Amino acid sequence: MENKINNLLNAQINLEFFSAYLYLAMSTYFSEINMDGFAKFMKKQAKEELEHAQRIYDYLLLRNEKITYQRIEAPDTNWTNAKDVLDGAIEHEKFVSEKIKEIYKAADELDDYATLNLLDWFIDEQLEEEEKFRVLKEKIQAFDECSCTLEVMDRELDKE
Ligand SMILES: [Fe+2]
Ligand SMILES: [Fe+2]
Repeated sequence: MENKINNLLNAQINLEFFSAYLYLAMSTYFSEINMDGFAKFMKKQAKEELEHAQRIYDYLLLRNEKITYQRIEAPDTNWTNAKDVLDGAIEHEKFVSEKIKEIYKAADELDDYATLNLLDWFIDEQLEEEEKFRVLKEKIQAFDECSCTLEVMDRELDKE
């Protein structure tokens, strides 16, 4: 594997851990305002991000590649309401999608077909995640005027 791809994949592992950290912080925010369904939803997202990191980690091990550890950034937690949190999540997922595309482009230029194969899964996954957060945000927006409806939604999420 070319050094460039190794560096990019290690950076991506770090970004996936950061994503987990960010969604855990979002989960904490919802727990603090007693929106337990949303808290549970975000906690599940955090767990998924750890699985993403693991997927890249396993791939690097499989290819007998070096794994490097970098500092995980602290998430910015100045959210003011539920919609604000979802906006942050959507923005973050878009950023992650761009990063995946950057690695894809590099792997393509270097004819690294195995990495392209790994990244195909991530490209599909990013589409799903962006959509998941977008739908939830639209539901929040639709019910923005009525906090009682938001509570109903929270109870529904809690059941999942
Ligand atoms: Fe991810
Ligand atoms: Fe994600």
